[in-house]
This record gives sequence, structure tokens and C-alpha cells, in this order.
Amino acid sequence: MNITINSENLAAIVRGCILSMCDYSCMVQSMGYAPESDRTDQSVSRSSQLKEISFTINKLTAGAWMDDFEAARLIKEAIEPFASDIRESLFQSAPQGRLQESPLGTARDAPQRTPEKAPEEVSKKASKGVVSLSIVTSKGRSIAHYTLIPLAPIDPRIRQEVNQPGDPSLLPSSARSEVVRGKIALVTGGAQGFGAEIARGLAFSGAAVWIADINLSGAIRFAEKLRAETGTDAIFAVEIDVSKEESVERAFDTVARTCGGLDLVVSNAGILRAGSVLEQSAGEFRMVNDVNYIGFFNVAQHASRLLRRQWLGAPEWYTDIIQINSKSGLEGSNRNAAYAGSKFGGIGLVQSFALELVDYNIKVNAICPGNFFGGPLWSDPLNGLFVQYLHSGKVPGATTVEDVQGYYESKIPMRRGCYGPDVLKAIYYLVEQVYETGQALPVTGGQVMLN
Ligand SMILES: NC(=O)c1ccc[n+]([C@@H]2O[C@H](COP(=O)([O-])OP(=O)(O)OC[C@H]3O[C@@H](n4cnc5c(N)ncnc54)[C@H](O)[C@@H]3O)[C@@H](O)[C@H]2O)c1
Repeated sequence: MNITINSENLAAIVRGCILSMCDYSCMVQSMGYAPESDRTDQSVSRSSQLKEISFTINKLTAGAWMDDFEAARLIKEAIEPFASDIRESLFQSAPQGRLQESPLGTARDAPQRTPEKAPEEVSKKASKGVVSLSIVTSKGRSIAHYTLIPLAPIDPRIRQEVNQPGDPSLLPSSARSEVVRGKIALVTGGAQGFGAEIARGLAFSGAAVWIADINLSGAIRFAEKLRAETGTDAIFAVEIDVSKEESVERAFDTVARTCGGLDLVVSNAGILRAGSVLEQSAGEFRMVNDVNYIGFFNVAQHASRLLRRQWLGAPEWYTDIIQINSKSGLEGSNRNAAYAGSKFGGIGLVQSFALELVDYNIKVNAICPGNFFGGPLWSDPLNGLFVQYLHSGKVPGATTVEDVQGYYESKIPMRRGCYGPDVLKAIYYLVEQVYETGQALPVTGGQVMLN
């Protein structure tokens, strides 16, 4: 596949090389992308601690098209002699004390809270870079210029394949959540509900997290809250409307310029519009499918392009696309066909993407949660499903919201709804498990069982 030789496209390959050669996860931030205001910050850190590394690649020409395998080969060759130097600088910058538990930054370093910053502004202040990396031509022309921002060392067990009994990768992780420490994750629909719970869990487990949502102000507010709660800087907000291709492309471009690559994409944004097949308008049916079905395609396409470029630099590194599907993707849902159909379709996409992307070590799986009664979809006091079902008389004999909730809980063998941490455990399992792809994992308290 051909790529244009530019800073943004090469960043993912560079990040892959560093993951692979240095056993250290970092963000690879394109310097050309930094706004003027930020260059001041960079020059301060450069004079005090930034290590400058520049390498020449004769055969790369800025703006030219090139086979991406060939570009990756040239970059690998060029980076290799500097790998131990880069590794040492990243390790030397490893945070001390409390930061050994939370390696992404400190509350002290966190920028002052300001209302409603643009996503780029929020992201620029992530952390101080420790290595400045330039790729130049033999004539000294700059092709790309990056700042490497350390995240965390890589536990080598994460990327080891299980090939034989007694293989060290058969040993358990010290904690399942460790599998996301230092990784870069993006969660669509991350501003509220399940998405917010997932983003929070990932951030507390030491991942750098992008909260990508159509509700940008909600995403920015939540990112700022999480930064304060976790004391880490690497939590970013970016606008995305998953149903619009241009918007998805823009969001992934922002991620590529800011972080170089990604390790985990949680395609969670989804909507529900219940309605009878006798009455629901085609427009409403289409709207649900535009977000839940086409939206997943858009996200998976742009995510996999970026993850594949990173894989060119780190062919042994596994990455994950996880769709938050639903129990309604496994069995029909009465008067809810638009939603159930879109979720069934999502599983077809998951299986098909998995078959293709396995060649690039990109795993694609779905999680099918049961009802999240505590989230806004069900519990919103004005138009949550409990209130709607109470007023529509859907639950015979129910006179209060509690009656409606009790009715739905009684259908679950474990007698409770699903929570964010239940879904998080499934995410950690899917990330840790490098011998599975294309699966739909129920998290329903026994309500839906696979055949
Ligand atoms: N709530 C449940 O009971 C439940 C059960 C099973 C599965 N799910 C699935 O979990 C996911 C999250 O559901 P939830 O209940 O937390 O939803 P929610 O309505 O509470 O939150 C959805 C989030 O997605 C965002 N969003 C909506 N449309 C978007 C778009 N086009 N582009 C980007 N962002 C968009 C919203 O702004 C919001 O922040 C969905 O895919 C849903 O189908 C939910």
C-alpha cells in the first residue's frame, strides 16, 4: 500500500519502531503540528532536558508517494542505531515516587483548568517531551520532526505469543488492568454512560485516553475532570460524529498528529430509538443504523489504517478494536428492531474485519453488555427508558419507576444490571488474550447465553 511521506503518516511507523525496539510506550507528537503558543513550552523543555536525535534517510522525499513497507524498512534501519539511546532517555525520564504507579504525569504538571479548550490545546499540554526526533534528507531538508512523550515501559509478556507449555506469557499479569498501562486508547461516545465508565477505568489503569464524542463540550469537561481525578495529563477530548466519515477522519488525524498511534479503540458510541415495525419511520430506523452500524464501519476503517501503519514499525505488537455491542446483538428485541438489527450487523462486521485485520495483529472483538440501569439511557429522570416504559404501560401493573426496574432486574439470573467495571473486565480480557479475535463476548449476568 502506498503512503504520502509526511510527518503525520510516518509518526505511526516511528511509534511502532519505538514500541518494538525500546520496549517503551510513548506518544510521538508531530512538531509541525504544535501551535506557536506551544513551541515556547517545547523550547523551555528542550533547553533543560530534551535530547535531540536527527537521522538522515536519503531515499525519503517529503510529499512523495511510497510503498509503506519500504518506508517502514528505511525508518527501522535509521532508528535502530539510536534505539538504546532513546530507550535510556525514556527510562531516565521515568517518573519517581507516586508516578511509578501512575506514569503519565503529575497533578503538579497538569495545566491549570480552563473552560472549554479546543481539543488540540488540551492535548498539547499532555506532558514534557524527552526526545526530539528529526528525519531529514541528505541535503538537510526536514521530512518530519517529533517530540517523544514517555508513557510507560512495556511488560514484555504482553506481546509474547504463546507457543509452548510453560511459556512465560502463560503467567498471569500482576493485575488484569496492567495490560493497558502506557497504552493509548480512544473511546467513542466517551463523554457519558458506558463510554465514560470505560474511559475512567482505562485512565485509572494508566492508559492515555482519548474521549471522542459528538458532544465536544461534554467530552472536554469530562477530560478535565478525569485529569484532576487521576492526576495525569494524558487525557484528551476530541470531537467525533461517528456517522460522518469526514468527522471520523478528522478525529483520527488529530490523534495521529498528537500521539503518533494508538493501541486500543473502543467503538462505544451508539443510540437507541425503540419503535414497532408497524409504525417506526424509515428515517428513524436509518438514523439508528447510521450511528450504530455505519458509525462502527467508519471508526474501524480509520482506526485500522492508523493501527496498520503502526504495525509496520512493530509487527509483533497486538492492537485492539473493540465494539461495545449489546445483548440485543445476540437475540431479537421486541419493538426495538432498528437497534437490534444494527447490533446484529455490528457482529457481522466484527467477524469480517477480524478475518482481514488479523494479518496486521489487529484483533477485533465485540462486548455484548446487558442493561446499564444506572446510566442515563435508563435512569434519566425526564426521558430515560424507566420513565418511558412506566408511562407507556409497557410493564403491566407497574406504578413507579422502581416497579419497572424490578421487572427488568427479575429477568436477569444474577438479578442486577450491568455496570462499567463489568465491561472493563471484558475489555482487559480481550486485550490480554492474544489468541482470540472476531468474538462477541456477553456480559449479561447470565441473561443471554451463547449457543
Ligand atoms: N445503556 C445500556 O443499557 C446498554 C446496554 C447494552 C449496550 N449498550 C451500548 O453501549 C453503548 C453506550 O451506551 P450508553 O447507554 O452508555 O449511551 P449514552 O446515551 O448514555 O451515551 C452515548 C454517548 O455517545 C455519544 N454519541 C451519540 N451519538 C454519537 C455520534 N454520532 N458520534 C459520536 N458520539 C455519539 C453521546 O454524546 C454520549 O456521550 C452503545 O453502543 C449502546 O448500544 C448500552
